[in-house]
Amino acid sequence: MLLKVENLTKQFEGLVAVSDVSFQVGAGDILAIIGPNGAGKTTVFNLISGILPPTSGKILMQDEDITCLKPYQVAQKGIARTFQTTALFDQLRVLDNLAIGYKLKTTTGFWSTIFRTRGWKEDRDKCTQKVLEVLGFIGLAEKTYSLVSTLSQEEQKRLAIGIALMSDPKIILLDEPTGGLIQEDTDSITALIRKMKKTGITVIIIEHKMRMIMDLADRIVVLNYGEKIADGPPEEVSKDAAVIKAYLGGEYIA
Ligand SMILES: Nc1ncnc2c1ncn2[C@@H]1O[C@H](COP(=O)(O)OP(=O)(O)OP(=O)(O)O)[C@@H](O)[C@H]1O
Ligand SMILES: [Mg+2]
Repeated sequence: MLLKVENLTKQFEGLVAVSDVSFQVGAGDILAIIGPNGAGKTTVFNLISGILPPTSGKILMQDEDITCLKPYQVAQKGIARTFQTTALFDQLRVLDNLAIGYKLKTTTGFWSTIFRTRGWKEDRDKCTQKVLEVLGFIGLAEKTYSLVSTLSQEEQKRLAIGIALMSDPKIILLDEPTGGLIQEDTDSITALIRKMKKTGITVIIIEHKMRMIMDLADRIVVLNYGEKIADGPPEEVSKDAAVIKAYLGGEYIA
């Protein structure tokens, strides 16, 4: 198991947003986290990525306890994420947004940057190489010099994934990567996620689009009011009575 979440709880004053949640993700798998609005899905991502400390519980990556690490330390361990609302610099070019993503990983400091040391140059070359690789991978090579504000919504979603890929993550957390997209665009993002899986990246995805998730996920965790109510392969979860009741308003998932 690459990542284990054990008895994770997050309380915000009176509200228990995540309540005693445990799950595991195998290397190279796609795990989907689903559940109604306010179920605690994004909070789980905030806990894993170190943005929020849990009230209790543990997060283990390859059996190493990463529960209390800062976001940049979690990123260095190989966990990258995207946000539910896209957080891009829209007055900068596609290229610049990706280069900023690389900064997370770089080790060159202030003085080596000022004096243009060998380390700095090597770092710059590596960054350029990585930008080109990621641009190709996300299919945005033609938009390298475009301002983000001129991109379509779907292209912006690709770019957000690209920024996360700049740090060579082992695990990528995608928070509703197709939110607000039409079906055709959803399909192209789904294809990109499959492509990531093929390269060996482990994916944890929060999504509301059931058909997409049924098709894409190896495993599904269902949250409801902060609690895990189901966990299993798609065909099992889609037949689970508690899931149908809580999430699908009694309608069977087709
Ligand atoms: N920083 C915070 N402070 C206080 N309450 C919070 C905070 N973050 C989330 N919450 C609350 O925790 C609960 C879970 O929120 P969360 O954003 O994790 O839900 P979600 O499952 O991602 O929902 P959605 O599908 O709408 O994105 C909600 O009631 C929310 O208002
Ligand atoms: Mg959310």
